Amino acid sequence: MLARRSAQPAIPGSTKASRNQITPTHCILLLPLSGWRFLRAVRSNPAKPRRPASSFRKSSAGYSVTVSLGGEQKQIPIDWVFGAADQGYTFFSRLSPGQFLEHRLSYYKRKPGFDITPGQRTHTSSSVEEAVGIHLSPMEAFRCLRCHSTYLKQMPDGPDFSSVVPGVTCERCHGPGADHVNAIKTGASDRRLLNPGKLSGDELLLMCREFHRAEPPPGMLFDDPVVTRFQPVGLQMSACFQKSNGGITCTTCHDPHENVRRNANDFYNKRCVNCHNRASQRRCKVQTAGECVSCHMPKIRPLPHMSFTDHWIRVVSASAGVGKKAREDER
Ligand code: HEC
Ligand code: HEC
Ligand code: HEC
Ligand code: HEC
Ligand code: HEC
Repeated sequence: MLARRSAQPAIPGSTKASRNQITPTHCILLLPLSGWRFLRAVRSNPAKPRRPASSFRKSSAGYSVTVSLGGEQKQIPIDWVFGAADQGYTFFSRLSPGQFLEHRLSYYKRKPGFDITPGQRTHTSSSVEEAVGIHLSPMEAFRCLRCHSTYLKQMPDGPDFSSVVPGVTCERCHGPGADHVNAIKTGASDRRLLNPGKLSGDELLLMCREFHRAEPPPGMLFDDPVVTRFQPVGLQMSACFQKSNGGITCTTCHDPHENVRRNANDFYNKRCVNCHNRASQRRCKVQTAGECVSCHMPKIRPLPHMSFTDHWIRVVSASAGVGKKAREDER
């Protein structure tokens, strides 16, 4: 049998002690506007949005965007910002009870500036109503917020903003702390706290999949470049996962209490070699030490301003879709 999950070396820096000082969210994915420190960056990078003209500004009433088209103007207060301080930010407003708006322009960090939000129409809008963005139903708004926050309740007219805690915090993955404290107080043997460290590799993947998604969007093939955004899909397709009996899972390479390590190939390569230097394993004919991920987990850019890492670990050149796209992106 191949690597059990417990056989993986501990991820440096992820000791229990260091977890006392962790930032309270898993890659903060939702910011109330009060915490939107990044506005300064927006101001210092004046937007050159596509038509129609939109301007983002702060006033005593809060943050808002004003969209102008053919003499018509609409000003909309912004309530929330979705984003992981990583690649992009999408703005979100509650227009009225039961009516929500995903703004048409998002802010991207790669080449700082505004552009169309993924999934929204790119052609010039015919009315100012259309130009501001997409209206979401209470259920759709709830779905966005549910993945991006903790303690969210659904009310008949949409998500209950009074209960929401932005970002994926401890309890989202570990279960409610109050139950845990009570269990200790009453001496119950079930401590009522989920320790994901005790889960098998497969079970852990199920947990992460709930947020990072389990399958391609309807109508999309598994090797569509956009599917690299959904890392569990790729990992589950990998022979490394399928043939190691849960030996490789998200926490093999990531500490859920920290942001993803960027530009740290050596760190990830060690995880590969840890399994692939075993005598029983087939060896790479190209290279058996040092670099692995740049060839077998290439970074690609499936959306104009966002890059993702192909988690379908394989010989990329042998497959058309993703591999081809990766090479195109190098240009
Ligand atoms: C199934 C869970 C899920 C749902 C539903 C969801 N998101 Fe996300 N979102 C994620 C995860 C996980 C990430 C981080 C990885 C990524 O960028 O795809 C993310 C990232 C983002 C980012 C930041 C991109 C970056 O990396 O900087 C934005 C903006 C965003 N989501 C907006 C939205 C909006 C708006 C909706 C609703 C229309 C939505 N999300 C629905 C899980 C979800
Ligand atoms: C995104 C999900 C997620 C979030 C958010 C999260 N954790 Fe964890 N936590 C995990 C996983 C998964 C493990 C198991 C890691 C492993 O097995 O490598 C873990 C393990 C731990 C452990 C070690 C348990 C043990 O006995 O080994 C502690 C302590 C811990 N987390 C505390 C926290 C605290 C405190 C927070 C909030 C500041 C937090 N976690 C937020 C997913 C999460
Ligand atoms: C938990 C152990 C484990 C880890 C960690 C692991 N692999 Fe694998 N990998 C496997 C197993 C098992 C197979 C299947 C071998 C077979 O078919 O005999 C495999 C297969 C492969 C294949 C062949 C794919 C195919 O479609 O036939 C490649 C390429 C590969 N691994 C590269 C990597 C790279 C690169 C990493 C690090 C990013 C990595 N592996 C991490 C266990 C692992
Ligand atoms: C074999 C190692 C490995 C495993 C297992 C792994 N990842 Fe990754 N992951 C990486 C590497 C390498 C990167 C790119 C880091 C960088 O930017 O340099 C990455 C990046 C990411 C990112 C940032 C966005 C992107 O795609 O670049 C997310 C989110 C992510 N991984 C989620 C997951 C999830 C969820 C799982 C479990 C399904 C998982 N990863 C399993 C190696 C791994
Ligand atoms: C320069 C790109 C490159 C690098 C770096 C690289 N590989 Fe490969 N790897 C390939 C190619 C191409 C193949 C297919 C070779 C063939 O079968 O002709 C391959 C094949 C494999 C296979 C499948 C072997 C088989 O017999 O099916 C495994 C496993 C593998 N690589 C693991 C690794 C590991 C682990 C590392 C890091 C130590 C690594 N590779 C580094 C390009 C690379």
